Amino acid sequence: MAIIGKDIKQAIEVLMACDVVGLPTETVYGLAGNAYSLEAITKIFTVKNRPTFDPLIVHTSSIERVQEFVKEIPEQAQLLAKHFMPGPLTLLLPKKEIISDLVTSGLGNVAVRIPNHPLALELLKNLDFPLAAPSANPFGYISPTSAYHVENQLGDKVKYILNGGECKVGIESSIIGFFDGEIVVLRKGGLAIEEIEAIVGKVRIEEHSSSNPKAPGMLKSHYAPRTRLLLIDDCLLAELNTERIGFLGFDKFDSNIPNENQLLLSPSCDLSEAAKNLFAYMRLLDARGFDKIYTNLLPEKGLGRAINDRIKRAATQE
Ligand code: TXA
Ligand code: MG
Repeated sequence: MAIIGKDIKQAIEVLMACDVVGLPTETVYGLAGNAYSLEAITKIFTVKNRPTFDPLIVHTSSIERVQEFVKEIPEQAQLLAKHFMPGPLTLLLPKKEIISDLVTSGLGNVAVRIPNHPLALELLKNLDFPLAAPSANPFGYISPTSAYHVENQLGDKVKYILNGGECKVGIESSIIGFFDGEIVVLRKGGLAIEEIEAIVGKVRIEEHSSSNPKAPGMLKSHYAPRTRLLLIDDCLLAELNTERIGFLGFDKFDSNIPNENQLLLSPSCDLSEAAKNLFAYMRLLDARGFDKIYTNLLPEKGLGRAINDRIKRAATQE
């Protein structure tokens, strides 16, 4: 069983032995291993049951250390890094040889992130290698936003989970690539498009799917709870036995469903609060054993766009 604690030294010991640890970040918890070790990387894919065509993000503690494993940082990337790193932003940058093809699934770019979490930064500063880390959930399931979520799902396969409390952002980082002079958002995430565009101007948003060669792992159906999740527009609630139905709402209860079956992401309509609660509330409702969980989309602005992206993927059954 995994040990859950705040001891950086124990985490370092496990990582030095090319094993994996649960890593707290401000977005979601990661399943981290030495990014320069094939043994550690292989272990990450195995523990997560992740196909190797889905590349990993490499985490480090400063933009100076990024130079160790990327060939160059385009000007626009530097600008974004200056404003948002550490933070919920991942940049795709041309990799040096030291990053193996296994980390990038054979792509020429490596995904780079500096997490804004004190324990993660302290750990990274004390290591002489960066950490490859996908979200610490079994492939296709909801990302973990607390050490206990990691223990729940991967506790028998991970020796140590560094406990950094509940994730403050709650959804994964925004992923940005630079292709032929164009800035492309490949995953809407914890940094709102509006914030990105305020620094670098208009960006292109590329809806990702399994057929997108730039981000092979971004499958349409993802973040799925076990209980079927449905968008409320798809159904006629009045015809259903609502005692057996759960509801994940934004700010208002649904009058068709018993209140005790419902969770509200943010009664005060705060999109940051909704993002922070999203995955944890999906888990809570999933554990109730309802026949179905209904939900609806949030306003399509700020973090609402990334939240809606997760909700739509979770509600996709293919
Ligand atoms: O917030 C986050 O980004 C969290 C924390 C732990 O840092 N990590 C995370 O990792 O969400 P993961 O593996 O669950 O999602 C990373 C996504 C993958 O779907 C993958 O397709 C994409 O990033 N990705 C990674 N490397 C890439 C690359 N070189 N080119 C394009 N996409 C890449
Ligand atoms: Mg993930």
